[in-house]
Amino acid sequence: MRVLVTGGAGFIGSAFVRRAVATRPQTRVTVLDALTYAGNLANLAPVRERIEFVRGDIADAEVVDRLVAGADLVVHFAAESHNDNSLRDPAPFVRTNLVGTFTLLEAVRRHGVRYHHISTDEVYGDLALDDPAKFTPETPYNPSSPYSSTKAGSDLLVRAWARSFGVAATISNCSNNYGPYQHVEKFIPRQITNVLCGIRPKLYGAGANVRDWIHVDDHNDAVWAVIDRGRIGETYLIGADGERGNKAVLELILELMGQPADAYDRVADRAGHDLRYAIDASKARAELGWAPSYLDMRAGLAQTIEWYRRHEEWWRPGKAAVEASYAEVGQ
Ligand code: NAD
Ligand code: DAU
Repeated sequence: MRVLVTGGAGFIGSAFVRRAVATRPQTRVTVLDALTYAGNLANLAPVRERIEFVRGDIADAEVVDRLVAGADLVVHFAAESHNDNSLRDPAPFVRTNLVGTFTLLEAVRRHGVRYHHISTDEVYGDLALDDPAKFTPETPYNPSSPYSSTKAGSDLLVRAWARSFGVAATISNCSNNYGPYQHVEKFIPRQITNVLCGIRPKLYGAGANVRDWIHVDDHNDAVWAVIDRGRIGETYLIGADGERGNKAVLELILELMGQPADAYDRVADRAGHDLRYAIDASKARAELGWAPSYLDMRAGLAQTIEWYRRHEEWWRPGKAAVEASYAEVGQ
C-alpha cells in the first residue's frame, strides 16, 4: 500500500510514520510536509532511508495532485496545531487547516483515493468541570478558538466531500496527545523543558481546566484501526479515559522530576480557555476492537520526561524563542 502522510514531520504524524515503517513493511510511505516551525526532519531520522520525503505545502494544488495520484491512501495530519498561536495570528490556520484540507479533498476526489482525516476533540467545544458528560460522535460542533474552528471547518468539508462527491473518507477526533517529539510550545513538554532549563513552569489561571490525555502511540494505533476496519463515511472518537486537571498534571511532572509541588508560576489565562474535554471512545472500542495500551499516565509521563532529558539537542534550539514569545503575552 502506498500511503501519503501529510504533516509527517510533526509530533503525531512522525510517530505514525516511524510506527508504520517498523510494523508494516508492506507499506510505502511518502511524507508531504512544509517544515514550518513545528516540522522537524530529525523526527524522521530513524526511518529517513525507508521513506520518500517531499517538502511542500498542502495548499499547493500542483504538488498535492502529483502525490495523491501516486497514492492508495492519504492520511492527513498536517495542520497549524497550537491554540495559543491561533489567538496571536489566525491567518495561517485558515490557510493550512481549511484551504489545505480543501486542496487535498479535491485531489482525492479526482483520483479516487481513500482519505483519512485527523481531527481533534476541540471541534465539540468544552464541557463544564462538574458535568459527567463526555463528547460522543453525536455531540454538536461548537468550537471556541481560531484553531478549533478551522479544524471543525475542515471536518465539515470532509463530510460534504464524502456525501456529495462520494469521497471514501473517515474522520477521527482525538483528545490531547503526549509523548516524545512533541514541540516545546505545548503544555507537557514546555513544563518538562522549563524544569530542565531551571525556568519555573507556567500554569494558566488556576489550572483547573481538564484535558483527556492519551499517549501518541495509542492514538496512532487507533488511526490504523480506523484505516483497516473503519466504515467509510464514519467519525470515530479516540480517547483513553485520561482526564486530569492541568494543576494535577503539572504536580505529577514536578514530582517525577524531583521538584517541590509548588515550584511553578501562575500566569495569564488563555483567552476563551476551554474548561474540560472528555472523550467517549466506546464506538472505536466496540467497532474497531481498539483499546489503549498506555493505561498508567505516571509511567507514560516518566518515559516522556526521560526522552526529553536524553534529547536536549532536539528541543534546545527552539526553546528560547518559544519562551520569549510566551513572555510577550504574560504567559
Ligand atoms: P504539529 O504542529 O506537531 O505538526 C504539524 C505538522 O504539519 C508539522 O510537521 C508542520 O510542518 C506541518 N504543516 C503545517 N502546515 C503545513 C502545510 N501548509 N503544508 C504541509 N505541512 C504543513 O501537530 P501535531 O500535534 O502533530 O498534530 C497533528 C494533527 O493531529 C493535527 O491535525 C492536529 O489538529 C491533530 N490533533 C492533535 C492533537 C494533539 O494533542 N497534539 C490531538 C488531536 C488531534
Ligand atoms: O484536545 C486536542 C488538542 O490538544 C489538539 O487539537 C491540539 O492540537 C493540541 O495542541 C491540544 O490543545 P490544548 O490547547 O489542550 O493543548 P496545550 O498543550 O496547548 O495546553 C494544554 C492545557 O494546558 C490547556 O488547558 C492550556 C494549559 N497550559 C498550556 C501551556 C502551553 C498551561 O497551563 N500552561 C502552558 O504553558
